[in-house]
Amino acid sequence: MKVLLVGNGGRENAIAHKISESPSFKRSGGKLFTAKGNPGIRKYSELTCISPDDIISLAEFALKEKIDLTVTGPEVPLSLGITDEFEKRGLRIFGPSKLAAEIETSKVFAKKLMKEYNIPTAEYRAFKKEETDEALKYLNDFTFPAVFKADGLAAGKGVIIAGNIQESMEVLNLFSDEKNLKEAGENFIIEEYLDGEEVSVFAVCDGKDFVMLPFSQDHKRISDGEKGRNTGGMGAVAPVRKFMTEDINNKIKERIIIPVLKAMRESGREFRGCLYCGLMIVKGDPFVIEFNCRFGDPETQAVLQLIDSDFLGMLQSAAEKNLKNYKLETNDKFSCCVVLASGGYPGEYETGKKITGIDDITGNCFVYHSGTRYGNKENEVLTDGGRVLSVTGISDKSMNDAVKIAYENAGKINFENKYFRKDIGFRQLKNNYGN
Ligand code: AMP
Ligand code: GLY
Repeated sequence: MKVLLVGNGGRENAIAHKISESPSFKRSGGKLFTAKGNPGIRKYSELTCISPDDIISLAEFALKEKIDLTVTGPEVPLSLGITDEFEKRGLRIFGPSKLAAEIETSKVFAKKLMKEYNIPTAEYRAFKKEETDEALKYLNDFTFPAVFKADGLAAGKGVIIAGNIQESMEVLNLFSDEKNLKEAGENFIIEEYLDGEEVSVFAVCDGKDFVMLPFSQDHKRISDGEKGRNTGGMGAVAPVRKFMTEDINNKIKERIIIPVLKAMRESGREFRGCLYCGLMIVKGDPFVIEFNCRFGDPETQAVLQLIDSDFLGMLQSAAEKNLKNYKLETNDKFSCCVVLASGGYPGEYETGKKITGIDDITGNCFVYHSGTRYGNKENEVLTDGGRVLSVTGISDKSMNDAVKIAYENAGKINFENKYFRKDIGFRQLKNNYGN
């Protein structure tokens, strides 16, 4: 079986690893290509030099190479219509169409859909960029904090929480400035702040049926204790055992995933791919904070090792609208992914720093490459992004053990200005909250 994976990051490195371990892939003597990949992904696949956003060249490549299944990691190619381009040519692909991807790319669309179908989410109002007076009026009798969200894609940087009217005015100024958020800032929403436990849920969907993968928890803020600026994600753990009861599990399916798939079908945007539900659990009830149209990063690096059934088979069944015949099997392991970032991220940072120590890792640990590239010397790997490496520790015993494995190995890897959070997984550790 020939598979093409689209993307360059830690998520794609974890997907490549899992595809290469899939029984259906191995049985068929499978071959994996990645566009365009990175030094970590190269271990599992042949890299091509096509950019993930060049969807026409990707489709031509898939036709030429007779690719059986293409798997898209990031949201940008999906938002550009990679699935539509592939399907036009009769090529099989995992990932939603351009219209279905709007569930992530337009917060305004997603909020409207949720309201119409009674899917629990924070109360909100949508505004155009120039409607700052209306926004201020809306905030007059608002119970702060208020959450501001730019409408389009902003790489995790389009959400700002304001504690009072003064801070809100600063956000409105920022959003009204063309330069700051480019097209992401054309429209924005203001919504109520939800106070609870955040959890990431991946539902692999074929338009109608779905499988829900083990829950995970991301740490989005740059500093320990959930402080500082929002990032793409500084680390993640899976599964989420604390507070996630069977009852909440059922509510997520009944109140969120089933109705949203129905809503998408009824609006002509059948969703096939990974529906990422960013949820806030408030007093035992799930509320949607955001939907994404793809696997999360770095949650994927933590979640995939908990799957025992054929991963590639799952993606293929979803693409072929045949998920009802797929049986998901998971294991009882614990997984913790710590992201090593370039100092300065999510603001400005330098790249091109030499990375050492990757070969020194020990124990049940995988180092997935998020932002790296080859240097000029043989086997030299350099930093090439804000998030550089995703160090994932796996344990059969406990979350505490998985966290320990991840941090022991994170400490062995070095590059200039390496930065990482020291408290990934703290919510899921024993002895936290006194138990
Ligand atoms: P988003 O890009 O929508 O996932 O938002 C980024 C982060 O902002 C989320 O992961 C939450 O931690 C936080 N956030 C977003 N919306 C809300 C909300 N309504 N209430 C509380 N926190 C929120
Ligand atoms: N970790 C958050 C995301 O992938 O959007």
